[in-house]
Amino acid sequence: MSSALRTKPFGSKKDKKNPPILSHEFVIQNHADIVSCIAMVFVVGLMMQATSTLASIFIVMGHNATDPTDAATRGEPFLYESGWRDGPAVFFYTLICIIMHAILQEYVLDKVSKKLHLSKFKLSRFNESGQLVVFYLVSFLWGGEVMLRERYAENMSKLWIDYPIHPMTFLHKLYFIIQLAYYLHMLPELYFQKIKKDEQAPKMQHSIAGLLIIGFFYFFAYRRVAIVLLTLHYFSEFVSHTFGLLEVFDKEEKYARFRIFNNIIFLITAFSTLVLSFLTFFTGIGKTNPTRGMLGLVIAFAIQGLLIFRFITSFLKSKRESKEQATIAAKPLLKKPKSSEKKSESSKKSKKESDLPEADQNVNQKKVKTK
Ligand SMILES: *[C@@H]1O[C@H](CO)[C@@H](O)[C@H](O)[C@H]1NC(C)=O
Repeated sequence: MSSALRTKPFGSKKDKKNPPILSHEFVIQNHADIVSCIAMVFVVGLMMQATSTLASIFIVMGHNATDPTDAATRGEPFLYESGWRDGPAVFFYTLICIIMHAILQEYVLDKVSKKLHLSKFKLSRFNESGQLVVFYLVSFLWGGEVMLRERYAENMSKLWIDYPIHPMTFLHKLYFIIQLAYYLHMLPELYFQKIKKDEQAPKMQHSIAGLLIIGFFYFFAYRRVAIVLLTLHYFSEFVSHTFGLLEVFDKEEKYARFRIFNNIIFLITAFSTLVLSFLTFFTGIGKTNPTRGMLGLVIAFAIQGLLIFRFITSFLKSKRESKEQATIAAKPLLKKPKSSEKKSESSKKSKKESDLPEADQNVNQKKVKTK
């Protein structure tokens, strides 16, 4: 696997020189190989008797709440709690996320983008949305699976009953470990993907916000409601980034009118999030545990409020920009050009759209993004 992961195989034409070992360029080019070697050390460590207890701290989920043999004889699921051992586990699964990121980048995204001849700006948008779309889709399906298995839909009081004693099934716990690992892996990825300085800040914010929010919900045992809210949120993010990807392919803006679906889905998920948070934190957990209920409610509303605020500002901005574009487009009509002239004008315009310099594409892209 490791040699297949090499971003630029030795001897490829683009490779002028092999960079010196342990230079930045070398590490960046071979980061997937290097990280898989490190991950392999843990896996091999797990197989050797002398090191298996140490390695299992990193790989095996810790803090079981039930005895495995007891649970097996009674046919009950094996349950887990959260604790300090999740730290090493998050570290190990961060390595896995880096490897997965490199595989997706090299075998899917790079192959597709090579054929599209994108501008630098569009390429970085394409790569970002391509990565996130996969993460959001996997998280959405995973969260949905846990919700179905635990029957939250049929029995909503499960979200708050018995709080804070909410042990997790294996899939539920692994979900959170992977979530934390994914947001953590975004930080080294800034280096590995050579993200430019001015594009780093929003990605760093995304990573740290994800870590803090999910870490908070996880360690304060709001795990059942958290998986429901995250699944809702990821659905709307998945739709939004799918439109972001379509944008890259869609030079004539054929799909632009479908963006309304994106807005509707955002509003539905935002409304459901507010209602669910209120029910769980205020009327559910708040009854038996007022301070914890209030804390959860304030945090959940603050996050959703921020998302709604960002949605509204970007919506207003896109309205304003499309108005401006409409007035610019209407100007030549005032001069009443002949029909042939009009045609050439419009074809020129559509050509211009795709060849816009990066700065202008930047504006066009931004208006579209309604996160
Ligand atoms: C956790 O699992 C171990 C065996 O793997 C068992 O000895 C221990 O009792 C379990 N913990 C709890 C709280 O049941």
